[in-house]
Amino acid sequence: MKRDILIHPDPRLKKLCSPVDDLNDELRKLADDMLETMYDAPGIGLAAPQVGVLSRLIVLDCVKEEGEKPRPLIMFNPEVTASSDETSVYEEGCLSIPQEYAEVTRPAEVEVSWLDRDGKLQKEGFSGLWATCVQHEIDHLNGKLFIDYLKPMRRQMITRRMVKLKREKARG
Ligand code: NI
Repeated sequence: MKRDILIHPDPRLKKLCSPVDDLNDELRKLADDMLETMYDAPGIGLAAPQVGVLSRLIVLDCVKEEGEKPRPLIMFNPEVTASSDETSVYEEGCLSIPQEYAEVTRPAEVEVSWLDRDGKLQKEGFSGLWATCVQHEIDHLNGKLFIDYLKPMRRQMITRRMVKLKREKARG
């Protein structure tokens, strides 16, 4: 079942999310719904607060090539356990900040640990787009958006446009 994606600015996008300590069917259903919502958008990552749930859960799939096998990842309590000194710059966007893109510098490689859909502990190194995406999504769990890396002027301009967009949407 598809969920509604919150649009910035929204207080729920600025909250610190709580760790998942009881991985139950309701949370698994939420993860599946989030993947469905992400693919439909379409996007390459989605965090639980973006659908209004303040739990530490993200989903991602950065396979973009047409015809390549998808790789949906569900991460409960994801944590960056190591990051490279080397950085990379990607033009980022966010499903909660539609039609806005900006370059963000982040560590080029990260090692991440998480609990998978079955509650099994996983650990993997990510690079390229995957590294950027997983860091962007984990940021969401700490109430941080990619526009928080931009200069205040730029951030305020984007936020103003989003306020206007939401007003227009509300009017229908
Ligand atoms: Ni995002």
